[in-house]
Order: sequence, then C-alpha cells, then structure tokens
Amino acid sequence: MRLPVGVKVGAFALVVMGTYTYYANSIPQIQSKPPAELSLEGGNVTPAQLVKAGEEIFKTKGTCEICHRIGQPGTRAPDLAGVGARAAKRKPGLSAKQYIIESLLQPGAYIVEGYPNIMPAVDKPPIALNRSEVWALTAFLESLGGTVDVTLDDIPKTVGAAAAGGAPAELKIPGDPKAGEVVFTGKAGCIACHKAGKIGASPVGPDLSQIARIQPPDYIMKKILDPAGAGTVAGYPKGVMPPMFGQSLTAKEYVDLVAFLMTLK
Ligand code: HEC
Ligand code: HEC
Repeated sequence: MRLPVGVKVGAFALVVMGTYTYYANSIPQIQSKPPAELSLEGGNVTPAQLVKAGEEIFKTKGTCEICHRIGQPGTRAPDLAGVGARAAKRKPGLSAKQYIIESLLQPGAYIVEGYPNIMPAVDKPPIALNRSEVWALTAFLESLGGTVDVTLDDIPKTVGAAAAGGAPAELKIPGDPKAGEVVFTGKAGCIACHKAGKIGASPVGPDLSQIARIQPPDYIMKKILDPAGAGTVAGYPKGVMPPMFGQSLTAKEYVDLVAFLMTLK
C-alpha cells in the first residue's frame, strides 16, 4: 500500500472508529446494538486511519465479505485483491478512484466479465453506508494495489442521505414469515437446494442464511419469479433453479415466502 505524503484528506476526524468493535463477537453485552455509524467530522484523519476504518467496514457493516474475498475467489463476486491497481484500467476516462466510487454507488454501470449484475448499491438498504463510510471504504479499496488519494469531496454529498433520515430504511413485507418458512420447506421445496439459517443443508444453490443482509426485497422477489432474468449467481449453473414458482405458488404463499426470506440476516 502506498500513501503519498501530500494526501489531502480534508479537515475531518475519525470520531467513532473504535465503535466498530461493536461487531466483535467478544463483547456479547453490546452485540445486539444496531450497527454503529462512522462519522468523520471536524479535525484530521490520516490516510492510514481511513484505510483501517474502511477495512473494518468491509468486514462488518459493509457485508462485502458475504460476496467478496481478498486473495481468493468470493462466494458470489470477484476477488478484490489488486483492485486498486486494475481500477485505473477498467473504464477509459475514469481514474482508479472514480471507478471504485462508481462501482460502489452504481454497481451496474460496469459489469465485471463473468459475473451477474447483482451487487447492491452500498449507500442504499440493506447495506446503507453513509458518506464517511463510503469515503473510508474507497480508501481501503485503493490501498489494495493502488494509491490512496480519495478525499471526502470526491464522494457525492447525496450519498447516504436516505439512510440518515427522511426515507424509511426498510420496506415492510406484509407476509407471514412463519407461513413462508412452511412454503420454503414444503410446497415450494426450496430447501432441496438451499440452506437458510438453521434449516436446510443442500449445496446445490447458494446459502440463503444472510440473503436479506446483502439484497433488497426487489431482488429476492424477482429471483423467485424469474431466476434467469435476475442473473445467475457466479459459480452456480444456469437453469437449475426452477422457473415456474410464479405459476405454482398462490399470491399469499409468494408474499409469505418473501417475508420469510427477509428474516434471513
Ligand atoms: C450480493 C453480493 C455482493 C455484495 C454484498 C457486494 N458485492 Fe461487490 N460485486 C458483486 C459482483 C457480483 C460484482 C461483479 C459484477 C459487477 O461488476 O457489478 C461486484 C463488483 C465489485 C467491484 C468491482 C471489482 C472489479 O474488479 O472491477 C468492487 C470494487 C466491489 N464489488 C466492491 C464491493 C464492496 C466494497 C462491497 C461491500 C460494501 C461489495 N462489493 C458488496 C457482488 C457483491
Ligand atoms: C433445484 C434446485 C433449486 C430450487 C428448488 C430452488 N433454487 Fe434457488 N437457486 C438454485 C441455484 C442453483 C441458484 C444459483 C444459480 C442462479 O442464480 O440461478 C439459486 C439462486 C437463488 C437465489 C439467489 C441467491 C443469491 O445469493 O443471490 C435465491 C434468492 C433463491 N435461489 C431462492 C429460492 C427460493 C425462494 C426457492 C423456492 C421457491 C428456490 N430458490 C428454489 C437452485 C434452486
């Protein structure tokens, strides 16, 4: 990792870096608290601190590791080792920094070859990172083979605005999750191919145990009705997930099933 001396990080301080230890399993008494927010306001933060904060977000609140790994293929997404270097060559006219920011905020703008367009925008639910967090995460990704030169001004001011207030963070699904679990294990037979938390063990399809942490309801709803149209998860064969659930399930069964899947966090 290269950190140029003159990196301009602006006048901001790392206020709650330590709060990321909320996630450490070793502190059971505060485990159930909602995810801490990283706020970088008033003061100074060094590039090294920024990268460290970004790495924490990558491993915890960002949920990136459910899909990506660094130095080995991820379960659903590309290996991010060296992304700070290859980012400069991804899109003509975009610097490494610009490409990385775009890949976080508008993942569908450039699709890495061999992967489906299934990465959620990181500043929207369910991941919903704020502007400081996207800044730190960008610095961390730049540090993977590139130069850390991102400033807070590079991150659009609108980032995370929805999560900070105003718009409701989570859409409530009207179904009954308990009834949906019965559909999952019974009539729909999803359990034949998917693990889902405490139930199921099949490796035929991806483990759905944390699906609601990494995907919004619209992806899950579309996947059930049109598996191929929603994009085939990397590393799994196309056409194995049955395409006829839209016909075989009643509207109530479908909504209950979605409500059940939304509990998998
Ligand atoms: C649901 C799975 C999923 C999650 C969660 C996810 N990603 Fe991705 N990501 C993907 C997939 C699939 C691709 C490749 C397709 C594409 O380009 O959009 C990708 C592409 C990327 C790329 C571009 C890589 C390149 O080589 O050009 C970056 C950078 C990235 N993700 C970073 C992140 C970070 C950081 C997080 C956590 C905040 C994250 N992703 C969360 C699935 C995911
Ligand atoms: C015959 C096996 C099979 C059955 C039955 C099946 N699936 Fe799948 N499913 C797969 C496979 C294989 C994939 C990965 C390939 C793809 O994306 O199509 C997948 C992918 C998914 C995904 C995307 C996971 C991710 O990580 O993005 C969801 C969500 C999903 N299935 C839900 C369901 C639900 C809900 C049911 C029951 C209504 C179901 N599946 C039934 C095989 C199956």
